[in-house]
Amino acid sequence: MQELKEKIDKKNLPSHIAIIMDGNGRWAKKKGLMRVFGHESGVKSVREAVEGAAEIGIKYLTLYAFSTENWNRPQYEVNALMKLLVKTINKETKTLMDNDIKLNAIGDLQSLPKDCFDELHEAIAKTSNNKHMTLTLALSYSSRWEIVKAVKEIAEKAEKGLLKSNDITEDIFTSHLVTANIPDPELLIRTSGEHRISNFLMWQLSYAELYFTKKLWPEFNRNDLFEAIYDYQQRERRFGMTSEQLENVK
Ligand code: IPE
Ligand code: IPE
Ligand code: MG
Repeated sequence: MQELKEKIDKKNLPSHIAIIMDGNGRWAKKKGLMRVFGHESGVKSVREAVEGAAEIGIKYLTLYAFSTENWNRPQYEVNALMKLLVKTINKETKTLMDNDIKLNAIGDLQSLPKDCFDELHEAIAKTSNNKHMTLTLALSYSSRWEIVKAVKEIAEKAEKGLLKSNDITEDIFTSHLVTANIPDPELLIRTSGEHRISNFLMWQLSYAELYFTKKLWPEFNRNDLFEAIYDYQQRERRFGMTSEQLENVK
């Protein structure tokens, strides 16, 4: 375990890692348990990922915890997830303080149950001066929701005469996204063997390296995170250029 961590080049770390934490239900099913146990068991993997990222020096970690589409799950599962969220945020605030981690949340937070919204904001306020890493939870989030929201805000500014269509640039658009203060992720990890984005950070992931693992989320630990980072470091990020061009820049 130590070995892999040592192999990682600390000067070439992704500044932002995003994770689609998937496979809790299948993990539970495999064990003959209810799906909800899978979610509960996934909390320790959240801790592993958060502590692992902070330990190695990642500045931003974003976790997809609940999508807009997840509201369509059976009501009892939604309720259980919301309850678990309240409990986890409450319990883990200490871990965040101990590791100097600032909590942030993106998504349609108004749609969360009130106790969840309150607990979240309390933890965000408590950790607001922490500097080592920013942990963003995507809750009731979807990329299409975010993009439509940004377009509406821009249209409102245009209606008020604050902005002309010619002024709209990629930077202006980015500044209206809920991730405005966060750099784009260089690395996206998805567990459980699914190869899709599921409405997550579609604009921001434009040039991210994608890493898929068959491990189910409750099986994921910090060594898996280190493995993903190591894999990322073996890749050549060309941004549309040729290998030869990149050689010349080096
Ligand atoms: C991810 O695990 C957790 C959430 C989406 C909230 P799933 O609940 O999607 O687990 P699978 O994909 O059904 O195994
Ligand atoms: C994506 O997982 C959302 C989260 C991890 C929160 P899902 O399990 O909801 O995605 P699909 O339905 O398989 O695409
Ligand atoms: Mg799933």
